[in-house]
Amino acid sequence: MAKEKIITALDIGTTKICCLIAKIDTNNKIKICGIGENRSEGLAQGMITNIQTASKSVDTAINQAEKMSGINAENVFVGVAGELIRSFDSQGIAKIERSRKYSYEISKLDVEKVIEDAKSVTPLPVDRKIIHAEPQFFTIDKKTKILNPIGMSGFRLKADVHIVTADVNSLMNLYKIMQLLCLNIKDVVLQPIASSIAVLNDDERKLGAILVDIGGGTTDVSIYYEKSIRYSCIIPFGGEKITRDLTVGLRTPSKNAEEIKIKYGFAIQDDADENKVITIQGIGGHKDSKRTERFVAALINPRMKEIAKLVLDEIKKSKYLDMMTAGISISGGAANLRSTNKLFEKMFNLPTKTGYPYFNGIYGEIDNLNDPKYATVIGLLYWGKTNFDIEPFSNEFNNSLFERLFGRMKKWFASKNFT
Ligand SMILES: Nc1ncnc2c1ncn2[C@@H]1O[C@H](COP(=O)(O)OP(=O)(O)OP(=O)(O)O)[C@@H](O)[C@H]1O
Ligand SMILES: [Mg+2]
Repeated sequence: MAKEKIITALDIGTTKICCLIAKIDTNNKIKICGIGENRSEGLAQGMITNIQTASKSVDTAINQAEKMSGINAENVFVGVAGELIRSFDSQGIAKIERSRKYSYEISKLDVEKVIEDAKSVTPLPVDRKIIHAEPQFFTIDKKTKILNPIGMSGFRLKADVHIVTADVNSLMNLYKIMQLLCLNIKDVVLQPIASSIAVLNDDERKLGAILVDIGGGTTDVSIYYEKSIRYSCIIPFGGEKITRDLTVGLRTPSKNAEEIKIKYGFAIQDDADENKVITIQGIGGHKDSKRTERFVAALINPRMKEIAKLVLDEIKKSKYLDMMTAGISISGGAANLRSTNKLFEKMFNLPTKTGYPYFNGIYGEIDNLNDPKYATVIGLLYWGKTNFDIEPFSNEFNNSLFERLFGRMKKWFASKNFT
């Protein structure tokens, strides 16, 4: 009998660490067998800040999933923290060589050449690597917005290319954590991209969609158009900032502020009840106070607006705002804050929905996973199934590992079809 295929999806977030252990069954469906979730420690704004504490948090989540499933974690697919990603647009130019008499036909090689040129235009610091170079459109002489120039004729080919880079040291920290736990990383996936696999369907990715993942420490933005990633950025603000504002504004311990946010929070004041009175716990023995739900919303609203404004600024920068036919999907735990969609809809003038993960071909222990905060980890499962047969990373953390990692990411981007 063939060996069962096991996938372990590991989302190392700023607030929570979530681990899913699943089997790929004989019908090629994913059966989730174990779930582990633990409070995240040793991370800030998506970055690992303490390897020892972070590895303990990760270990607890993995152990829970192993215990529940009775399966040892293997084939670990890890989401790369958002802060690793930087992106910018670049342009490359290539002169078309004459292939035959009077013929200046653009070949695949010319396209590769022009993309290479776009990659080399901006010098990168030594701690960053290009992991992706995605052509957005081409220009042949004066004719622009060409999606596929191969076979067309011209003298000069220009390409607008979206470049994504990753921070090498952060990747190294992630690898070290897994080494401490005696686990090999089978593959790494950019977190906002994992979320998009679970949340956006093919139509959305083709017609133009924005995925905003508002986690605890970061807000990751990615834009999809014509089935490929067109823009990505990380905003170092998330739900934890809202909790901090409530801690200060309500003079209450952060645990109570978090509870109030989840139980009574609204992103828009007018949606909150002005007559509903909430008891606020005092700090360190100070007496409790009373505040209305609307008062709490008045503290939340400016921060959520700030996050939405920063996202809007980024999207305006991307030049894709007018092409977003399918609108916005918001994932991440903070997407659960009431009135968030309404706030984004008003500010962006685009249809907005909560980015719940799809469970296409996924069954088993899924009842508790229907929450936007699980978009990344579910996306990692889809990714793991599609990429199960890749070779796992080697144990040695050397250049060749990096080359393989970046090579794999490039291949992934190139395929553009994930579920
Ligand atoms: N019902 C809710 N209302 C408001 N905020 C919520 C709710 N549920 C969860 N959150 C917030 O969502 C945040 C956590 O989201 P998530 O689990 O996606 O973060 P993460 O993946 O750990 O972090 P990151 O992706 O930033 O590294 C916390 O700030 C939490 O307070
Ligand atoms: Mg997250």
